[in-house]
Amino acid sequence: MFTTTKFQNFEIREFEILDSTNLQAKELCNKPINNLVLLAKSQTAGKGRGGKEWFSDEGNLFFSVILDINKIKNFELISLISALTISELTDGLGTKTQIKWPNDVLIFGKKFCGILLEKHQDKLIIGIGINTISSPEYLDGKKQATNLKAANIIVSNQDFLFKFLDRFNINLIEFSKTNFIDFRKKINSKLYKKNEMIELDYLGQKFSGKILQVAENGNLILEINGKEKEFNIGEIL
Ligand code: BTN
Repeated sequence: MFTTTKFQNFEIREFEILDSTNLQAKELCNKPINNLVLLAKSQTAGKGRGGKEWFSDEGNLFFSVILDINKIKNFELISLISALTISELTDGLGTKTQIKWPNDVLIFGKKFCGILLEKHQDKLIIGIGINTISSPEYLDGKKQATNLKAANIIVSNQDFLFKFLDRFNINLIEFSKTNFIDFRKKINSKLYKKNEMIELDYLGQKFSGKILQVAENGNLILEINGKEKEFNIGEIL
């Protein structure tokens, strides 16, 4: 059972509890839908990237946006555009955020937003988790998670979602008309650990290098032993 709300060109279906909004989104992918948002007050099996679990206690914001992939060019860049949308919107609420490639959003080095982009049939599922009021003490064994409340940002989940959808819509239209250039500039200006040495886990292999920038195709460019190397996936450790 769910309640339905309309916001601009989005239909939002709100559930009390779901296993995972991304899992439920997949169930709907054979239907002729576009701009559908599944929102859950809590999740029992919240999914993160790389098969990890996503902390899904009631009170935080969990939603998935389902888009028709045929209406988007370069859909793999949508996760970076989503991260930028959240980063700019959160800055507007009174803090300074950074984007950790490929698509985490951080406040003072700690993660409050995770994005899980999945392609299923001819749909793109953008699963977004925002720690609005609470966060796990440990994330990957380190004290590196935070929430908006801890950063003195008090915003209701509904307000945050509406603000996100509003800006996301604008960004999607701009992306369809132009290209990634302007988005890329903004992402690079907010890039976590830019010009710093990091360690990247690439499919289980570790690479040490200096972060130079995000490339035109969304890859991360590292400088390793004086040479540039691009990565299309990976996790900054
Ligand atoms: C990550 O950083 O690992 C991605 C986390 C994505 C979590 C969100 S919460 C809403 C949606 N439903 C899920 O099961 N996962 C995403």
